[in-house]
Amino acid sequence: MNIRVFENDRQAAQAAACMIAAQILSKPAAVIGLATGGTPVPAYQELVRLTNAGVLDWSRVTTFNLDEYLGLPGDHDQSFKYFMMKHLFNKVNIAPESIHIPDGMAADPTEACMSYERAIREQGGIDLQLLGIGRNGHIGFNEPADAFSPITHVVDLTEDTIEANARFFASSADVPRQALSMGVGTIMQARSIVMLVTGTEKARAVRSMICEPVSPSCPASVLQLHANVTILLDSPAATAMNHCR
Ligand code: GLP
Repeated sequence: MNIRVFENDRQAAQAAACMIAAQILSKPAAVIGLATGGTPVPAYQELVRLTNAGVLDWSRVTTFNLDEYLGLPGDHDQSFKYFMMKHLFNKVNIAPESIHIPDGMAADPTEACMSYERAIREQGGIDLQLLGIGRNGHIGFNEPADAFSPITHVVDLTEDTIEANARFFASSADVPRQALSMGVGTIMQARSIVMLVTGTEKARAVRSMICEPVSPSCPASVLQLHANVTILLDSPAATAMNHCR
C-alpha cells in the first residue's frame, strides 16, 4: 500500500484527480472505475476544471461505477446515476454509451449484475478504480461480512450505512435497503486502485483497513493484498494510524 497523508481534504482530492488525469493522459481509451459519496466531489470538480482547460479528453474513456441503489431510477435525485451526471458526466465530453452504472431498476437484478460483470470484462477490465470507504470499512457497497464477495451482486445495506447515507435523503426511511455493487473480487481485479478518504469520522475505518489483519469484517482491508493501491488521506482521516501495531 502506498499511503499519502495530506494537510487537508482539498489537497487529497487534488491528488486523486491528478492520478485519474494521469491515467487518461497515458491511455486515452482508459477504463476508469468511479465512486460516489461526498468525498470524491472535489476530485470531480478538479477533473472538470482540467477538462475545461483543455488538458483532458474523455472522448475515448469508458467508465464503470461501483454501485447503485436498488429501486431508484437514474433520474431520481439520490440515485448514483444522477450524482454522476451532475458532478462529472454532464460536464465532460464522455460518450453516453461509454458510461456504465448498475441498473437500479433492472427487472432481474441478479442478471443485471452478471451482465455488468461481463461488460467490464468486454472492455478489458478496469485500469484505475477510484474508491471511498464507509465508516464501517465498506468499499462500494460491500458491507462487513463473513466472506469477501467475488463479483457484482445484490447487497443488503447495514443499518450503519443506511444511517450514514440518510443525510442525502429526506429521512432514513427513504434510503433504499438494497443496492447493486461490484464485488470485492471485481474491485481487486482493477489494475490500479486509488482510495480517497477524508474526515475524522473515517479514521477508525482507515486504521482497520491499514493496521489490522485482512478480514471480510473490514472489506477495505483486502486492499493490503493489491499490488498497486494508493491511499490518499487528509490528516484527520489519518489520526488513528499512529496506533498501528
Ligand atoms: C457510499 C458508497 C461508497 C462510498 C461511501 C462513503 O455508501 N457506496 O462507494 O465510498 O459510501 O461515502 P462518503 O464519501 O459520502 O462518506
